Amino acid sequence: MRKRMMLAAVAALGFASPEPGWAEDEAVETQIVDAMNKLFGTHPEFRANHAKGVVVEGSFKASPEAAALSKAILFDGSTIPLTARFSDSTGIPNLPDGSDLANPHGMAIKYHLPDGSDTDMVINSLKFFPVSSGADFRDLLLALAASPANAAKPTKFDEFVAGHPAIPAAFATATTPDSFADEEYYGVNAFVFVNKAGERQAVRYLMVPERPLHLDAADAAKQPPDFLMDELPERLKHGPVTFHLKAQIAALGDPTDDATKPWPADRKVVELGMLTIDKAVPNSAEAQKPLLFLPGQLTDGIEPSDDPLIDVRNGAYAVSFSRRNP
Ligand code: HEM
Repeated sequence: MRKRMMLAAVAALGFASPEPGWAEDEAVETQIVDAMNKLFGTHPEFRANHAKGVVVEGSFKASPEAAALSKAILFDGSTIPLTARFSDSTGIPNLPDGSDLANPHGMAIKYHLPDGSDTDMVINSLKFFPVSSGADFRDLLLALAASPANAAKPTKFDEFVAGHPAIPAAFATATTPDSFADEEYYGVNAFVFVNKAGERQAVRYLMVPERPLHLDAADAAKQPPDFLMDELPERLKHGPVTFHLKAQIAALGDPTDDATKPWPADRKVVELGMLTIDKAVPNSAEAQKPLLFLPGQLTDGIEPSDDPLIDVRNGAYAVSFSRRNP
């Protein structure tokens, strides 16, 4: 599998240490960030994952359908300013954007609400997640770190994948886009909308570009190393970029606690509103440092589901943030 070979190549670069293991007395969130540092190397001031990114600004305007589903002020139809960060996967800050390792790409959004608070969405280009628990995510990272290109077969990664068939299937859902503006991003974790009548509805977010466009692997590999980071600010000089924020609506019995299980494709999808990116920030490298996007930073009317990854993510992002802003 291509992704596995690429990750083995990262290990071979010497970032990863061959011994698996973690400090047992640490919380799983800390063990995950330790495992990311082991796999990708420690790069002070950078995120433990999605280290390379670009910060932009824009706004969101909700549709009337969104207000019927959730009482969140985000969905009241007013224009909500936002800060967003598009990113490459991995904790390697100088990874070429066209590398297969840079998949999945990320989109993190901080909506600045009229009451002075923020609510966040942290989404990526994987259609579903490779594992369903924090412990499994830690073990996946450690298995990769213990499987450099020259490791004896079957490697720790081969053994781990044998028990977790969603891993290759999930990685196969993300390929390199020709632009951050032409990628489709998925919430993966379920959230629960609560409307004014108190009705509750589990949803998963979809961020849909005007025109999704991907490169084949050979074309992606030929691109300049920063082509995605450079292209978006350049494109914004000529006009705004728009996305449609949508929600896939769970039917009764659809699992909300397992991010490896996409809901059936025929589930209803509701347009929540139009997201417009209109400005690159001039000092993106500095601007990204104090930004902390948290999947659990929510506002009244949007609640976490019973997906255990949401809490694990909140904890791990905070650990990574405290290390990059000591
Ligand atoms: C157990 C599951 C996961 C763990 C432990 C995890 C961990 C992390 C960590 C530690 C960071 C760096 C945060 C920082 O320093 O600010 C990060 C960044 C990120 N993650 Fe995750 N992640 C998980 C799942 C996901 C999922 C399911 C998605 C999307 C659907 C996702 C999307 C992102 C994005 C977009 C960023 C970059 C955020 C930014 O631009 O600041 N992650 N992740």
